[in-house]
Amino acid sequence: TVRKLFLLPGDGIGPEAMAEVRKIIAYMNSEMKAGFETDEGLVGGCAYDAHGAAISEDDMAKAMAADAVLFGAVGGPKWDAVPYDVRPEAGLLRLRKDLELFANLRPAICYPALASASSLKPELVEGLDILIVRELTGGVYFGEPKIITDLGNGQKRAIDTQVYDTYEIERIASVAFELARTRKNAVCSMEKRNVMKSGVLWNQVVTEVHKAKYPDVKLEHMLADAGGMQLVRNPKQFDVIVTDNLFGDMLSDVAAMLTGSLGMLPSASLGAPDAKTGKRKALYEPVHGSAPDIAGKGVANPIAMIASFAMCLRYSFNMIKEADTLEKAIANVLEKGIRTGDIMAEGCRQVGTSDMGDTILAE
Ligand code: NAI
Ligand code: MG
Repeated sequence: TVRKLFLLPGDGIGPEAMAEVRKIIAYMNSEMKAGFETDEGLVGGCAYDAHGAAISEDDMAKAMAADAVLFGAVGGPKWDAVPYDVRPEAGLLRLRKDLELFANLRPAICYPALASASSLKPELVEGLDILIVRELTGGVYFGEPKIITDLGNGQKRAIDTQVYDTYEIERIASVAFELARTRKNAVCSMEKRNVMKSGVLWNQVVTEVHKAKYPDVKLEHMLADAGGMQLVRNPKQFDVIVTDNLFGDMLSDVAAMLTGSLGMLPSASLGAPDAKTGKRKALYEPVHGSAPDIAGKGVANPIAMIASFAMCLRYSFNMIKEADTLEKAIANVLEKGIRTGDIMAEGCRQVGTSDMGDTILAE
């Protein structure tokens, strides 16, 4: 089999982190006959410098044709003043939109070796393994009208509109239930049905999808504010959390801080399965940004990027054993006390980006 990967390293530490994934791809090709075919493009500030757009049409076409896109990070002070529609983030937004990546998966895993780095008590997070499934293409970030109007009396009015259609809730709920079946078989759906119509519909549709297609999965509903509280009070009660774009944005950042460093967190964004092949378009990226403060120094933590590649193995290529092996290698390296600067702790050995990648590969 040929497995087509399109690499978009981007700016700042993006290329440094991507270099470590490239080592793993090369190893899997030579030692495991994995058949990865890689191509590479520009996104973000580097794409703007090269052709005045945050991603070129040529690279967009390659992203559309690939089995999976691996994305590093974009942005940096150099491009803070570029026009709004070609700013670095526009490249990522374009990819999400054209690939129709409606499901954003953010795992929050707390490696036992890092439990003491959490914002919570170690015993509350040790062994934590939850997955937040955030709706990514709908809701209040995209709903119309979205305007600021002048009321003429020295007052202005800002309007954002939360819009969800049945099909949007159905497809994100299905993703959550399917993922739960590969995990601890439990979904918690979060909305605010007590004050929002979109919450009422969300609750109804999730309940219907559950009844019709996934009755074997345990389903619970929680108001999103209470959900935020429970995430901090007792995060291990959750397996899969499914929620809308806005609540998902906030709740996944809360969950992120339960696990320690930004340099550890992977993510996946999935599209709908193709009617013929059943394959989903997908993009995998670390949660962190381009970290201009440490870019070019060879000290960035590549684990978020490597763990994003593990998600790619799992979700785009169904290479479950390989994904498990890679994730276990990350855990073992941490257990042995090998750390990049961002997760450094007493009694551990500090290494740079490239050494961390080599050590994980060796493990
Ligand atoms: P950031 O995630 O780039 O950095 C925040 C802090 O965490 C910095 O101190 C950084 O050094 C540290 N950090 C992040 N990743 C790390 C890693 N892998 N290893 C070690 N330390 C790490 O967020 P910030 O500073 O708010 O944004 C910097 C730039 O990145 C901005 O231009 C922003 O727009 C962009 N950005 C891009 C994102 C993306 O490409 N998806 C997401 C977030 C921000
Ligand atoms: Mg956020």
